[in-house]
Amino acid sequence: MNYTIATLPGDGIGPEIMEQAVGVLQAVAEKYGHTFDFRYGHAGAIAIDKTGDPFPDETFQLCREADAVLFGAIGDPKYDNDPKAKVRPEQGLLAMRKQLGLFANIRPVSTFPALIGKSPLRKELVEGVDFVVIRELTGGSYFGEPRGRSEDGTKAFETNLYSKEEIVRILEVAFRYAGARNRRLTVVDKANVLVTSRLWRETAQEMSKDHPEIEVDYLFVDNAAMQIIQNPARFDVMVTENMFGDILTDEASVITGSMGLLPSASEGLLTSLFEPVHGSYPQAAGRNIANPLAMILSAAMMLESGLGLQEEGALVREAVDRSLAEGYVTEDIDPAHARSTSEVGNRIASYIRKK
Ligand code: IPM
Ligand code: MG
Repeated sequence: MNYTIATLPGDGIGPEIMEQAVGVLQAVAEKYGHTFDFRYGHAGAIAIDKTGDPFPDETFQLCREADAVLFGAIGDPKYDNDPKAKVRPEQGLLAMRKQLGLFANIRPVSTFPALIGKSPLRKELVEGVDFVVIRELTGGSYFGEPRGRSEDGTKAFETNLYSKEEIVRILEVAFRYAGARNRRLTVVDKANVLVTSRLWRETAQEMSKDHPEIEVDYLFVDNAAMQIIQNPARFDVMVTENMFGDILTDEASVITGSMGLLPSASEGLLTSLFEPVHGSYPQAAGRNIANPLAMILSAAMMLESGLGLQEEGALVREAVDRSLAEGYVTEDIDPAHARSTSEVGNRIASYIRKK
């Protein structure tokens, strides 16, 4: 089959890790007789430099027409240190989510046996951790209107707005994931304080009647933050609003010790997008030292859930597992015997070709 992939390397280490993911996908294409047509576009700081817009219209069109979007990372310190900058790379990310209707952010949190020692938590707590956080991505206080500053500048406000329709569609995704996994769904909210959360909870309670096979529980977000540390193995699928999800996914990403390995997917109305959980890591840019595995695993997720190519995705995962088991890894995992970004990527691609 022939697939068109919108390829957005972005900023920092984005281009180098993307190159490895593309190499791995090319190996998959050769092996299975597919054609991947990689169409490159700009997003983030690089897009601001080239066009003045962090998510230019031509990139939007490219994404819209593609079968899936593969995305590297966004962010450049030259904007972080300038609070007066008029456009920021992050605005490109938010525009991309909104314009492509990417309302469901899926972040699997799973352990890799080779990396358990890297977890900040005790081994007994992290062993067997395997859950998915589903974060609503296009609503809530990130986008709600009105927002702004009072005229004299001494007050500022956001609007945390959710319609029932938005809640239903994200919960549908969550019930679907729970159904395909261990049938346990945790709805995270702050229903003791927020009216939006009460609408979430009420809606989840209604929908759970249509899904009797799924065991649903409800946690306040502060309690959820605590339990992710105290007992992460209890979770199967967790669903929550945009802001809570932003915070909890960062927390969840470090507990397995494998931050550099975590992929994510954003499912949307127009297309789906796949990207590593980590950021643009500017200090490592251009040095061929960054870990390409999260990007490569994002490509595996794209094969499986974006293009429906299960066997192909599984082979990429197998190649990644092999690389980890053999200790053929970048410096973040093994500083004493570190391989470069491209060495790790090439090794995975050649494993796939030979298999
Ligand atoms: C994320 C990031 C973004 C967010 C930032 C960079 C705007 O933290 O993808 O989790 O807050 O959603
Ligand atoms: Mg975040």
